[in-house]
Amino acid sequence: MSDSLSVNHLLGIKDLSKQDIDLIFTTADNFKDVLNRPIKKVPSLRDITIANVFFENSTRTRLSFELAEKRLSADVVNFSAGSSSVKKGETLLDTVNNILAMKVDMVVMRHASVGAPHFLCRHIKANVVNAGDGTHEHPTQALLDTFSLYRKFGSLEGKKVVIVGDILHSRVALSNVFALQKLGAEVMVCGPSTLIPKHIHELGVKVSHNIDQALAWCDVANILRIQLERQKMSYFPSLREYAMFFGVNKERLDRLNKEITIMHPGPINRGVEINSDVADSEHSIILEQVENGVAVRMAVLYLLASKVKH
Ligand code: CP
Repeated sequence: MSDSLSVNHLLGIKDLSKQDIDLIFTTADNFKDVLNRPIKKVPSLRDITIANVFFENSTRTRLSFELAEKRLSADVVNFSAGSSSVKKGETLLDTVNNILAMKVDMVVMRHASVGAPHFLCRHIKANVVNAGDGTHEHPTQALLDTFSLYRKFGSLEGKKVVIVGDILHSRVALSNVFALQKLGAEVMVCGPSTLIPKHIHELGVKVSHNIDQALAWCDVANILRIQLERQKMSYFPSLREYAMFFGVNKERLDRLNKEITIMHPGPINRGVEINSDVADSEHSIILEQVENGVAVRMAVLYLLASKVKH
């Protein structure tokens, strides 16, 4: 196995090879061991400065990156668009160039616009990590999701994974489709027809509009949030009706007579796409996903840091 990634930036799972993902997983396995020690810190990125540049809200991703960077001994600066000079009309490129003038080596960026990190890496010298660009990709989320499955099952080869919910507005869905397929899993998407992209079957995924049939088919259900903040029109009559037809609850799972692994990238809307009796059940790995996120992000930053040009 190569000890180097084939890319200089992590913009999307689409750009990664299976070997890249295997290398990230092996490296994350090692960092998981570090995180279980009494002293959870290593000096690997002692000479590296990282800026976390978030133009959109985040809880998990932002905290997880910051913790990963600190566990690797990097110097960290944080930027939030809401409390910055972006409010005074500064462009994305000017903002980032000003941050880079302070000698930053890597930029972790979340932005509401599709392609914002791709634009950035064409114009700056620092290595860029996409922490979510609009409805496009969220590569580290898909890596931590698939890493969690790899830790549980050993291999994803032949595993059947259904992604349920608002596929149309979800960057998590697209990155998961690419990651799962590269690792040999079969993928289905399930939701109301208004929330499933018209041509998604061209990616080689199955499509279902019936949650009970989808759950009967799968080994793993990754349940997504309805992204009301990205919806410019009404895609279904009400949240109550969505919960009735697509909400995953214990009653539905009990009818199946088999065990399904339950995932959710968060944030959860309890009582809408998932009920508490499922989210908090023994079959849920939702908090393991969050825990694994730190090790996976440590692995991504560590591997990309070897490409930093000082
Ligand atoms: N899963 C995820 O991206 O969550 P945040 O929006 O809280 O970062």
